[in-house]
Amino acid sequence: MIDLRTDTVTRPTAGMRAAIAEAVVGDEQKGEDPTTGALEERVATLLGTEAAVFVPSATMANQIALQLWSRRGDGVVLSSSSHLVHSEAGGPAALAGLMLQPIDTPDGSFDGDQFIAAATTGAVEKPATALVAVENTHSNRGGRVWPLDRLDGVRNAAAAMGVRTHLDGARVLNASLAVGVPVDRISSGFDSVTLCLSKGLGCPLGALLAVPEEAVRPARRLKQMLGGAMRQSGMLAAAGLYALDRHVERLADDHRRARRLAEMLSDTGLVQSPVDTNVVLLDTNAVGWDREELLRRLAANGVLLSALPQPNMVRAVTHLDVDDDDIERTVTVIVDVVRK
Ligand SMILES: Cc1ncc(COP(=O)(O)O)c(C=O)c1O
Repeated sequence: MIDLRTDTVTRPTAGMRAAIAEAVVGDEQKGEDPTTGALEERVATLLGTEAAVFVPSATMANQIALQLWSRRGDGVVLSSSSHLVHSEAGGPAALAGLMLQPIDTPDGSFDGDQFIAAATTGAVEKPATALVAVENTHSNRGGRVWPLDRLDGVRNAAAAMGVRTHLDGARVLNASLAVGVPVDRISSGFDSVTLCLSKGLGCPLGALLAVPEEAVRPARRLKQMLGGAMRQSGMLAAAGLYALDRHVERLADDHRRARRLAEMLSDTGLVQSPVDTNVVLLDTNAVGWDREELLRRLAANGVLLSALPQPNMVRAVTHLDVDDDDIERTVTVIVDVVRK
């Protein structure tokens, strides 16, 4: 089976498993796990922030960020297709008591003016916009990358309005590679940044929330409250350090394979959106196929893709566990099934 549903399906490599086995560990909840501390420092330096907190998942990192920067009844401006809207089980409402203030855009990015138009500050009857959340790369729009001028525009507009900024940078290393700038050019300047280890980086689990020093203790309290404090988490942090050493540059292979997949499918009419990173969006409507039926037929022929929130849209995501042969085979299967 060639599994292109998402980049979280990877299994730890032999080298990563060895790093996990050899990890020096302590009780993380008591601040005694040296490998977790090393990972937190490493990620803070990488992202250009003062500190970082290791958490079990990117969802938890996002949820902690929302609660750090807002009060119940406040508003959060974000893309309508973002992970926070679709895939965090209503956490922004249930946990942070936030009103979503969504912006609908084709690639998940928006500019400073769109942010200003969506934000509500001042009027007593409106939710007070406390936060803007930017997702880069933007998963549900096909791993699209935010242009730097839009990022800067939103950051500047938010600063001028006294609104906090959160970057859901679960895949920000893909964004950095695609834009060709160091990752801190994208991440520094946000009040908080989520980085995920279990997507393109190939770790079994884990994410970091990068924050200013003054937010570390509040973030750790929220992590405790949500049940995210861990014990010998150095075993997971060791996988993260291993991945930061060995799995960042290779993201270029994932991007190249996604571009190749899109190029080879160009004649089918399925690919309607640009490929910025490791995601290829396929529009099943464009070729007159019912989406669920197409997914079933592909699966029966050994290729797994996944459905997106938008009707008719399907994605193929490249990752550590697919190689060039898998891409060739995927194209053969898709072309065969679609043309039958
Ligand atoms: C953009 C984005 N943010 C956050 C998450 C949540 O990650 P996790 O599964 O680690 O909670 C995902 C997961 O796919 C994601 O794509």
